[in-house]
Amino acid sequence: MERTAPASAQAAPAITQNPDIRYLGRLLGDVIRAYGGDKLYKQTEYIRSASVDRARGLQGADLTDTGLDALNLDDTLNFTRGFMLFSMLANLAEDRQGVAAEPGADVASAVERLAAHGVDRDAVLDLLSHSLIVPVLTAHPTEVRRKSMIDHKNRIADLMQLKDAGRTETAEGEQLDEAIFRQIALLWQTRPLRREKLFVQDEIDNVLTYFRDVFLPVLPALYARWERVLGARPHSFLRVGNWIGGDRDGNPFVQADQLRSALGRGCDAALAFYMEGIHGLGAELSLSTELAHVPQAVLDLAEASGDASPSRQDEPYRRALSGIYARLAATYAALVGKAPPRPSALKGEAYATPGDLRHDLVVVAQGLASEGDGALSTGGALGRLIRAVETFGFHLATLDMRQNSAVHERVVAELLKVAGVEADYLALDEYARIALLRRELANNRPLGGRFSDYSEETTSELAIVHAAAQAHRTYGPQSITHYIISKAESVSDLLEVNILLKEAGLWQAGTDGAPPQAAIMAIPLFETIADLEAAPSIMTAYFGLPEIAGVVKARGHQEVMIGYSDSNKDGGYITSTWSLYKASQALEPVFADAGAAMQLFHGRGGAVGRGGGSAFKAIQAQPRGSVQGRIRITEQGEVIAAKFGTRDVAMTNLEAMTSATLLASLEPDGISDRDAARFSAAMDELSKNAFAAYRDLVYGTDGFKEFFRQLTPIQEISGLKIGSRPASRTKSNAIEDLRAIPWVFSWAQARVMLPGWYGVGQALSAFEDKALLADMGQHWSFLQSALANLEMVLAKSDLGIAARYLPLVEDQAAGEAIFGRIREGWQQAHDGLLAATGQSRLLEKNPALDESIRLRLPYIEPLNLLQVELLKRHRAGEDDARIKEGIELSINAIATALRNSG
Ligand code: PGA
Repeated sequence: MERTAPASAQAAPAITQNPDIRYLGRLLGDVIRAYGGDKLYKQTEYIRSASVDRARGLQGADLTDTGLDALNLDDTLNFTRGFMLFSMLANLAEDRQGVAAEPGADVASAVERLAAHGVDRDAVLDLLSHSLIVPVLTAHPTEVRRKSMIDHKNRIADLMQLKDAGRTETAEGEQLDEAIFRQIALLWQTRPLRREKLFVQDEIDNVLTYFRDVFLPVLPALYARWERVLGARPHSFLRVGNWIGGDRDGNPFVQADQLRSALGRGCDAALAFYMEGIHGLGAELSLSTELAHVPQAVLDLAEASGDASPSRQDEPYRRALSGIYARLAATYAALVGKAPPRPSALKGEAYATPGDLRHDLVVVAQGLASEGDGALSTGGALGRLIRAVETFGFHLATLDMRQNSAVHERVVAELLKVAGVEADYLALDEYARIALLRRELANNRPLGGRFSDYSEETTSELAIVHAAAQAHRTYGPQSITHYIISKAESVSDLLEVNILLKEAGLWQAGTDGAPPQAAIMAIPLFETIADLEAAPSIMTAYFGLPEIAGVVKARGHQEVMIGYSDSNKDGGYITSTWSLYKASQALEPVFADAGAAMQLFHGRGGAVGRGGGSAFKAIQAQPRGSVQGRIRITEQGEVIAAKFGTRDVAMTNLEAMTSATLLASLEPDGISDRDAARFSAAMDELSKNAFAAYRDLVYGTDGFKEFFRQLTPIQEISGLKIGSRPASRTKSNAIEDLRAIPWVFSWAQARVMLPGWYGVGQALSAFEDKALLADMGQHWSFLQSALANLEMVLAKSDLGIAARYLPLVEDQAAGEAIFGRIREGWQQAHDGLLAATGQSRLLEKNPALDESIRLRLPYIEPLNLLQVELLKRHRAGEDDARIKEGIELSINAIATALRNSG
């Protein structure tokens, strides 16, 4: 029966101070009324205001009080979409208000802060001269929104900026409010769910839009800003990396073709960007020899261009640029294999390397610098173009390779067997494996034979390394520099990758006492608690091998990747966080002994259970000595759009990452050695107790696996078309074998968010020295950052709502018992956190986040309640397609509202 909304519901009091949220929310209401009809509008408004009342404790949470029972299936879909769009617009409004921007998170502030500690600009420049800071984009499947939805959202953000500037019309003369209304109406009528399977190629195309629209223009602009701040020109230490097309761990769809495509398309984008830039400069640099003094080098370049156009004879800069353009067009044709988007009127020889292109651009810049005060050469488009060429080369983004150690083991075993070297490599112990692999690495004779038959797996792994070698020849050695080994647990895991690289000539044995040459670095990814503990001894043993020591010394640095999600799934939040910290700390002297700079690669996602939270704080909270100006961090899924969706936001986040790296590398440790020792011992104890509690629940409780699989929408999440890779590596349904993403994602949907906090409560309550805990919470950046994330996750979780999912569990008695333990653990974590931070309620000291979360909660609850109802019907076998669609929409909407849930 249709329920009519009481008058008061339509005028629900404002629950936010953010005027943009109110404005966009009102327009969304108008759109729903205009396009969804009055009935839907009233229903939505009623549910919204009832939910707000409940959030304020003004009303109970019976389904009959919510208005949800009046929704038929079609209404449900429309309603869910409406709430999802509200969350999307609220995210947009918040991002505009700078909720995401942290004070002091920019390079200028970091330089000032360092100066206050006596660290001068020269020290900063010295660090930057050997720094490498890289956000690495991956296709990890946590972005639920289609690109079309994100694009509409970004257009609204652009229009809102015009509004901020006091404009009432767009440049095209459209009235601004109407234009925004129209964009929201388009959003409303755009299908939010992807119907078709996503292919790796889609993921490659998707990431390229970020490079074209954001990174290519933004990085040079940032460097120009930093040059002003630093008073010098640092080398291109900030780059953007890519995994898409190279990460094959658990994704059988990434093959040599995809690797070729990722790099080929990247090259296309980079060269097209440079050509546009040069075309623009050609229009701009109209200097005439009649009015300007032009140095000989520029005149030579002009002459070499072959540009004989009479109208340009006194314009050597334009002629030089025509020549550069012609050479670039030839480079494009040679590397991309098709005609350039804008052909050149002149003929030119392709550039062999980006360095050659840069050289010509620098000649032009020096010419401009030689006259007047040099203003024409600096700060303008030419300076930015030179920076772009240095940063993006011909390859756009360094593409990492990744595969699982188990695959390498099998492939190397097969190669050895077919070559007649070793019949059963897998049966060898670690010592024998190392000895055998070292013998093979000492010569250049490949194991693979052209006429040998191999399994499909070995064939495809060999094809990949050969494609990588070809990429080096085509795009240069910067195109692929890292090969990540998932689930690395031994020295032989690293050596096996070097063996595979050798097959394609990417590892060359040393001759005459020279060290071997490794064109691509084998990098272990340590991702269980035990492997993180073993990391220092594994790296010691690896560096202890003379040939490796030689390679590493010659390169000057080595990377180690550490995995946040899997260590969390293995050992729980605090143990994972602490083990990552300890491993980083313990690795530092191992690297110092080996004479190599340490480069840590942090494999983290958006949700706290996967290492999410403020990157600015997280980087600063790294142990001293472990950053050294070098850091790589994965950026994945919904985080990519959130952090790099628009140029402004990308600038803010890249500034934050860079400034945090400077601070973590150069700022003195905030705590004394004595405190460090006390705090560390306390963390050991906390971690031990948290680990025991977490393991006991997750891995030691009968029926837990079933409880998890029935309580959360894990099965339904696996069906979402949000990534090219399969949801699971194996057919097993053990929690150990589940990938970390669906594990974290499904707990978030049911609002338990267990990976973000479980076990911490027990550890905090068992810890007797509360004064020490408070001391640590107040003075130690590591614990502050860990507690801030814990607090956010506790504030977003809601065990009252989670309890609504309990009826989905078949064995009710077991379900209630397990849920009781979870609830108790939550309460302990909540109380322990308040005690450690000296607060009387969650987020008391973080009003911006508090408001943001409070605003969201009333919008999420109805979605959760609907999700439960739909799950019940789905699992009872109802096969109306709208039920499945409703579940997927609700997952989408909840993830959007929670922001960092995947
Ligand atoms: P992975 O990533 O499963 O690809 O190793 C884990 C994660 O990022 O959560």
